[in-house]
Amino acid sequence: MAIIETFGLTKQFNGLVAVDEMTLAIDREIFGLLGPNGSGKTTTVRMLTTLLTPTSGEAKVCGHSVTASPREVRDRISYVPQDMAVDMKLTGRENVVFFANLYGIPRPRETADEALAQMDLASRADDMVNTYSGGMRRRLELAQALVHDPEVLFLDEPTIGLDVAGRRKIWEHIINLKNGGMTVFVTTHYMDEADHACDRVGIIDKGKIVALDTPTALKSLHCHEIIAIRGEGEYKGTVVPDVTFIGKTDDELRFQAISGEDSGIPLLRALTNSGMKIHSFVIRQPTLDDVFLSLIGEQEETMAFDHHRFRTMLRRRA
Ligand SMILES: Nc1ncnc2c1ncn2[C@@H]1O[C@H](COP(=O)(O)OP(=O)(O)OP(=O)(O)O)[C@@H](O)[C@H]1O
Ligand SMILES: [Mg+2]
Repeated sequence: MAIIETFGLTKQFNGLVAVDEMTLAIDREIFGLLGPNGSGKTTTVRMLTTLLTPTSGEAKVCGHSVTASPREVRDRISYVPQDMAVDMKLTGRENVVFFANLYGIPRPRETADEALAQMDLASRADDMVNTYSGGMRRRLELAQALVHDPEVLFLDEPTIGLDVAGRRKIWEHIINLKNGGMTVFVTTHYMDEADHACDRVGIIDKGKIVALDTPTALKSLHCHEIIAIRGEGEYKGTVVPDVTFIGKTDDELRFQAISGEDSGIPLLRALTNSGMKIHSFVIRQPTLDDVFLSLIGEQEETMAFDHHRFRTMLRRRA
């Protein structure tokens, strides 16, 4: 039996299909759900954590239906939402003890201290949360989520707004939890992090899973070698044998080729002949970001100003 199973799971909001017939089976692993803004990641997590009722379809967590047995599901899971879930006017320990009491844990203080120590926050447990860094606050949220020893942990964008060191540390903790036997369902925008940390990744676009596999399999299935080119001038759809255009990010054109070495020079020549002026090019192995670009294309939202995300980030940093 899979730890998380969905069958045709669907959620509509006034006719808008946010999650569309999702069928998944997730075992004891770190499963990453990747997708652009508005693709249905949070809606999926909220259904799996019993906070939203599916419009149709079914989901089971640890063998229990999220609709028929929500209590059984809640007893076995923890959820750290995309938004902040800590009280800035309390100390770290007070926050975690509050959660332990909420869950009716028998030894709240001791359990809270264990969770704080597990997240490397013991030395700062008595400090007010408003003195914590963004990374420490996120770890505090994880500590809160751990007090009732969940079998499954749901994390919605656990590293958003954190610096590189803070993000790395969060992932180290997530991997440790998995190694301790926990199933972790995580959403993220950061492809490089998913590539390194997730056992399997599902890519979601407009509510549908468009690819699902290990990062290695996804890279070898969808991309060969990548030729990334920077230059001036418009790409006019120039075609070269054995080369496919996969997309454009910022001012970089990305192509996949069966052999970058064989196709690099012909491609550069063809682009130059089409009127482009090439500044630089690299041939490299594909990343999950390339897979994402080839499946979903450029995300408009990465260019746009995302107010919600910005507010979340500010609150983490304030
Ligand atoms: N309560 C709601 N009422 C109406 N529409 C909603 C509601 N919640 C989500 N949506 C819509 O459903 C779609 C999926 O939203 P969701 O929050 O699941 O996306 P997401 O992948 O988590 O996005 P992000 O990366 O920005 O967090 C979006 O079009 C969103 O506007
Ligand atoms: Mg979301």
